[in-house]
Amino acid sequence: MRVPAKVNLQLAVGPGREDGFHDLVNVFHAVSLFDEVTAKDASARRSRPLTELTADGDVGSHLARVPLDSSNLAARAAGLLAETTGKATPVDLSLLKQIPVAGGMAGGSADAAAALVACDRLWGSGLAREELLGLAARLGSDVAFGLVGGTAVGTGRGEILTPMHSPGRFHWVFALSPHGLSTPAVFGEYDRLFPRAPEPRESPALREALAAADTAALGRALDNDLQPAALSLLPELERTLETGRAAGAVGALVSGSGPTCAFLVGGGDEPARTVADRSAAVVAALEAGGLCERVVTAEGDVPGATVL
Ligand code: C5P
Repeated sequence: MRVPAKVNLQLAVGPGREDGFHDLVNVFHAVSLFDEVTAKDASARRSRPLTELTADGDVGSHLARVPLDSSNLAARAAGLLAETTGKATPVDLSLLKQIPVAGGMAGGSADAAAALVACDRLWGSGLAREELLGLAARLGSDVAFGLVGGTAVGTGRGEILTPMHSPGRFHWVFALSPHGLSTPAVFGEYDRLFPRAPEPRESPALREALAAADTAALGRALDNDLQPAALSLLPELERTLETGRAAGAVGALVSGSGPTCAFLVGGGDEPARTVADRSAAVVAALEAGGLCERVVTAEGDVPGATVL
């Protein structure tokens, strides 16, 4: 299975709920940075843990941060499916990663979405899409989006998804931090900074920009309520954002709970040459700035988990 990363085009965060979550308006946009998840039958294994995990990939220091035990969300996805259907046999899950770990791009959630589909096929459980989406929502707020992809607004704690009309193709540059940020820690910092947050509201300007494939309007509409909290925990991100903006990015924001920074560098009906030049300028400035571990480019939107 191949499964994409996400960037949040809007992340509006309401006050903390009694269950520890926050109501969100979360506009997800799937981008062409992919993890690959392979599920292989391991019935012959002598010791019989349900899943054994291996991870590889081109994510630098992030690879060492992938948990290889039962706490990995992909292993939990396999466990939840097994418990639900009773059809499981031991499985080896291998993760080939491009998506940063604890980076605000839903890498762990993407792997879980892919593991659900891969194990469903391997075990022949044949769950309906709605059932898979239900299991995904139980695993985490961002997992269902990994199945759906495209551009979609998530409400509730982010798991109730409605597709959004987004006919344009947008080009992005992502600055991967050498650090990870814990999502609960960033939400906690948000509560500290904004103890009286208003109810989250969808941005009409963002919806219009997407429908019109208007890059400049999209750049202006990008908005992440968690950004001040991520910047408070990792102040150097402000310089990363400023470096990309100064190099000509049309829009810049922290992705989700961070610390990956996302830069919109073109799209819509702009000439390819303009987009390529702007992208190259932003990449060069970020690389020269020395604040991030690596810089990657990607396009969106792209489909959700796909069988290769
Ligand atoms: O749902 P997920 O497991 O991805 O959430 C991780 C953590 O992020 C939660 O335990 C919670 O602290 C925070 N979170 C939140 N409100 C949401 C989604 C996540 O407070 N809507």
